[in-house]
Amino acid sequence: MADRKIGVLVSGRGSNLQALIDNIRAGVLPVKISVVISDNGAAYALARARAAGIAACVIERGRFADKAAFEKALSEKLEECGAELVAMAGFMRLLGTYFINRWPLRIMNIHPSLLPSFPGLNAQAQAIEYGAKISGCTVHFVDEGMDTGPIIIQKAAPVLGNDTEDALSARILEQEHLAYTEAIRLWAENRLEVSGRLVKIK
Ligand code: GAR
Repeated sequence: MADRKIGVLVSGRGSNLQALIDNIRAGVLPVKISVVISDNGAAYALARARAAGIAACVIERGRFADKAAFEKALSEKLEECGAELVAMAGFMRLLGTYFINRWPLRIMNIHPSLLPSFPGLNAQAQAIEYGAKISGCTVHFVDEGMDTGPIIIQKAAPVLGNDTEDALSARILEQEHLAYTEAIRLWAENRLEVSGRLVKIK
C-alpha cells in the first residue's frame, strides 16, 4: 500500500520537520511529506524541505484580507498536494474555524510542555518560572482552543535546578523529535481512535 501523505506547516527553524524527514528516510515512519508550507518566507525549515526534495511553499498571512482567506489558501494547497493529515511543526499561528472545520481530527500540533500545563507561547520559560520539576512535550489533535485538543502522546523531561530556557528547550526538543514520529506513525497505522477528548491507542 502506498504511504499516506501528510502536509507540514512550519514558521521557523524546522528541527521537528527534520526529525520527520530523517525518520521517513530511516524507514520508521511510513508516510510521505507531500508539501511543507511556511507562513514565513525566511523560515529555515523551507531550506530543509527543499534539501530533502520536498515541495516547499510560502503562504503569508499579510497577503490576504482576513484569516479565513489565508486559511482557505493553506487548505487548498494541502488538498492540491493530496495531504490527508496536517502536522503543525513550530507553526506559530492559531488556526481558526475555517481551517479546523475543513480538517476535523486531521490536524496535529506539537507543543513544548505537558498540556494542559503551560499552553501558549514560551512554554519552557513558563515551566521554569512556575517551578515545575517535570515538563516535556505533547502531541495533540488541534481544536479551536489554544493547545486544548485531544492528547495523543506526551513525553517527559526533567526541569533542573539551574535550568535556562535554552537548556530546558533543548532537553524537551529531544523528546519532541521522538514523540512526533510516534504520533504520526500511530495515525498512519490507523491506530488512533478518538472519542470526545480521549484518544485511545489501538
Ligand atoms: C518546538 O519546540 C515546538 O514545540 C514549538 O516551537 C518549536 C519549533 O521548533 N511550538 C510551539 O511552541 C507551538 N505553540 P522547530 O521549528 O525546530 O521544530
